[in-house]
Amino acid sequence: MILGADKTQKYLQSFSCPSNQDVESFLHFKSIRFEKADATRTYFLLDEDGTILAYFSLTFKELPTNNFVLSKSKIKKRDGINNRAESLKVYLIGQIAKNFSLKENPIKLKDILIKINMVIEKTQYLIGGRIIILECQNKEKLIELYANNGFNKLPNKEGGNNSLITMIFNH
Ligand SMILES: CC(C)(COP(=O)(O)OP(=O)(O)OC[C@H]1O[C@@H](n2cnc3c(N)ncnc32)[C@H](O)[C@@H]1OP(=O)(O)O)[C@@H](O)C(=O)NCCC(=O)NCCS
Repeated sequence: MILGADKTQKYLQSFSCPSNQDVESFLHFKSIRFEKADATRTYFLLDEDGTILAYFSLTFKELPTNNFVLSKSKIKKRDGINNRAESLKVYLIGQIAKNFSLKENPIKLKDILIKINMVIEKTQYLIGGRIIILECQNKEKLIELYANNGFNKLPNKEGGNNSLITMIFNH
């Protein structure tokens, strides 16, 4: 079904995420522009009535290895070829959140990750790439949540910017 610009905008406003304003405002104000620019792709988990349960946005980036404490063997494992790689090509989960405007939302992080993996597996099959990361706020609860769902923290080099923590999936 094609909604058109105004209705789509209104539909996106039905999503709310008070604990992370960045995630909410990305969906409300940036996601359409980023989609049109092919900068990210945004996906939704919907219930059977079409209500937004959760969303995520995916893109890719080069991750400089120099910013992290990484052994040569870890770099080789993650790059696939070169133990001196200066950057890793990674899939980036740019946004991930569930809709807090619903009284009851059955979605858990693991449900969103299953969908993310389905999308990325297709891309991996077509063009390769082995690393999935996300960059989260330096909050203990969030880091623990991701750690419990298969992510490992990439240790920042001392003196680096610690406001965002890079987490790598299943590596
Ligand atoms: C990430 C998310 C989808 C996980 O959903 P979930 O599996 O149902 O897990 P919960 O929402 O129960 O969160 C687990 C714990 O992390 C905490 N948490 C989640 N997001 C948080 C945030 N942005 N800041 C601080 N704590 C957060 C929750 O309060 C909860 O703490 P509790 O165990 O003390 O109750 C959901 O928490 C969410 O949408 N969070 C807001 C958006 C967000 O921060 N996304 C991450 C951007 S990197």
